Amino acid sequence: MEERRLGPVVGLGTWRTFDGDERLAGEVVGAALDAGCRWIDTSPMYGAAERSLSAALERRRERGDVATKIWAGSLVEGREQYRRQLEWYAHVELEQVHNLLSWQQHLEWLEHERDAGRIGRLGVTHYDPSVFDELARAMRTGRFDAVQLPYNPAERECERELLPLAEELGIAVVVMRPLDAGRLAARDPGPDRLAALRDFGIETWAQALLKWALSDERVDLVIPATTKPERARENAAAGSPPWLGPDERRYVEELASI
Ligand SMILES: NC(=O)c1ccc[n+]([C@@H]2O[C@H](COP(=O)([O-])OP(=O)(O)OC[C@H]3O[C@@H](n4cnc5c(N)ncnc54)[C@H](OP(=O)(O)O)[C@@H]3O)[C@@H](O)[C@H]2O)c1
Repeated sequence: MEERRLGPVVGLGTWRTFDGDERLAGEVVGAALDAGCRWIDTSPMYGAAERSLSAALERRRERGDVATKIWAGSLVEGREQYRRQLEWYAHVELEQVHNLLSWQQHLEWLEHERDAGRIGRLGVTHYDPSVFDELARAMRTGRFDAVQLPYNPAERECERELLPLAEELGIAVVVMRPLDAGRLAARDPGPDRLAALRDFGIETWAQALLKWALSDERVDLVIPATTKPERARENAAAGSPPWLGPDERRYVEELASI
């Protein structure tokens, strides 16, 4: 297993953003890479996003780390997804079982691929707290290096069991939906209220939300998605210290509840 920590860093999500639009993918991914992001999360579930990402990484593959997924009910389908991923990316830095789908079935061949060096780390994901017990069971096998889960001031269920478990087992944590799928990001409390966070390098509300998640020491990577290159740059800027302490995190929570 590679060293556990991936971060703390900001990456880029790709759900419902560029799909098959390779020009837009090139712009958004290019902006994120230029701003210092490395990790880009995608999935066979996200329409043509995987293919667009491969086009966006052409001639600069070494600057990005691909976190993609196997989303397949059968071995045959899963292996076919993986075959395409190797064609697109040559190597998968983080391969995740998407939404726990047939995870026991896929683990063995994925471990074989990791041992052969074609996959860097193995992860498992789910977005729904009603199946977090199963996500915890998958983590307890000790066979996953990373877990992806939702975490933002409006979605904190993972604090109960999954984050402590990830820390105990040394599993890296990837945060999906750090902006609450855009809902929290849209409720900007305004510059006057954000001024108190300026010493932490925070200029915008989205940066406050991203830094809130990254300042939890158990979190490695947040993967906000955007269709806008300027927002990819804005989000990337939240990925460096100083981190928030407990008081500032509570302040962001208060702002999020306004
Ligand atoms: N494994 C799973 O089950 C699962 C589930 C959900 C998500 N994910 C992964 O996690 C990633 C992130 O989650 P998500 O896409 O659902 O939600 P998110 O990243 O929390 O929010 C994305 C939304 O926020 C907006 N946004 C981005 N940057 C912003 C900024 N600086 N200011 C204001 N608004 C901003 C985007 O709109 P604009 O395009 O207009 O900027 C978009 O609508 C996904 O893309 C995907 O890679 C995985």
